[in-house]
Amino acid sequence: MSSAPDFHSGINQGVPPVTYGEGSRPPRGDYAKARADYTCEQDYAQYGEADHDIYRRLYTRQLQQLPGLACEDFINAVQQLGAPDRIPRFDDVSERLMRATGWQIVGVPGLIPEEAFFKLLAERRFPVTDWMRKPEEFDYVVEPDVFHDLFGHVPLLFDPTFADYMQAYGKGGMKASRLNACELLTRLYWYTVEFGLIQTPQGLRAYGAGILSSAGELKHSVTAPDAVRVGFDLQRLMRTRYRIDSYQATYFVIDSFQQLFDATRPDFTPVYTAVQGQSVLEAGQVLAGERTF
Ligand code: PHE
Ligand code: CO
Repeated sequence: MSSAPDFHSGINQGVPPVTYGEGSRPPRGDYAKARADYTCEQDYAQYGEADHDIYRRLYTRQLQQLPGLACEDFINAVQQLGAPDRIPRFDDVSERLMRATGWQIVGVPGLIPEEAFFKLLAERRFPVTDWMRKPEEFDYVVEPDVFHDLFGHVPLLFDPTFADYMQAYGKGGMKASRLNACELLTRLYWYTVEFGLIQTPQGLRAYGAGILSSAGELKHSVTAPDAVRVGFDLQRLMRTRYRIDSYQATYFVIDSFQQLFDATRPDFTPVYTAVQGQSVLEAGQVLAGERTF
C-alpha cells in the first residue's frame, strides 16, 4: 500500500463516500458519527413513533406479498427479524444471526465506499443503514434505508450457503479493487444479491433484497411478461449494464444458492479479462439463441 491519499483506503474522514451512478445529491446520513471503518452505533433514540409506524406498515405490506413470490428460505427466515411492530435493535438480530451462521449486522450512516463495504462483508459483518425513510418516501426511497437493509438483506444471511457467498463476495471485492474490476463485480452483486431470481420446484421466486423490499417489483420481477429473465451465466451477467432508477429490464435466474456459490468460487482474474474484451450489453437485451424464463 502506498502512503499517497487514496479514496479507496476505507478511512472515514467525516466526509460522505464517493458514490457511483447518476445523481449529484450527496448521500444522506451523518458520517461524522461513524468510526474509521464507517460503522456506527444504531442510535435507537433517534426513532420516533412515526418511524416505527413506517417500519410496521412496510413490513406488513411486504409480508403479505411473499407467498408465491419470495423463495422459501426467505419466508422461513424473515421472522428472525423479530416483532414487526418496531424497528429491530441491531444487537438482538445479530445475536440470533451469529448463532445461525456467524454473521453480525453493524450500523452505518448510509452508503459507504466500496472497499470499506467489501472489508465488512469479508469479516461477516453486514452494514445496515440506521435511518428510516420519510413518510413521503413510503413507496420509493432513492438510497437504501433501515427497512431495505434489514428486511431485504438480513433474512438470507441465516442461510449457510448464501451467508458464505456473501463473505466470498467481500473477499472478491477486495481483489477486484486491486484489479480495477469493481464495475464488473458490482454487476454480480446487483443481479444476484439485489435483484436475483431463483428457479424452484414450485416455480420462479425472488431472493434479491431490492426486489423483496420493493412494493411493486416483487410481483413484476416474477410475473411480468415483458421482463427478460435469463439463466445465470457469469460472463453474460458481468457484461450487462443495469438500471438504478426503474424496475430492472433483465433478471438472472439461479437454480440454487449452491450453484451460485460454485460458479463464483474460481479466481475471477481471467474472467475479468475475458469480459473486458467483449461488448457491453444493455439491460433488456436478449442474445440470439438465449433461453429465457
Ligand atoms: N472467486 C471470486 C474471485 O476470484 C471471489 C468471489 C466469490 C467473488 C463470490 C464474488 C462472489 O474474485
Ligand atoms: Co441492498
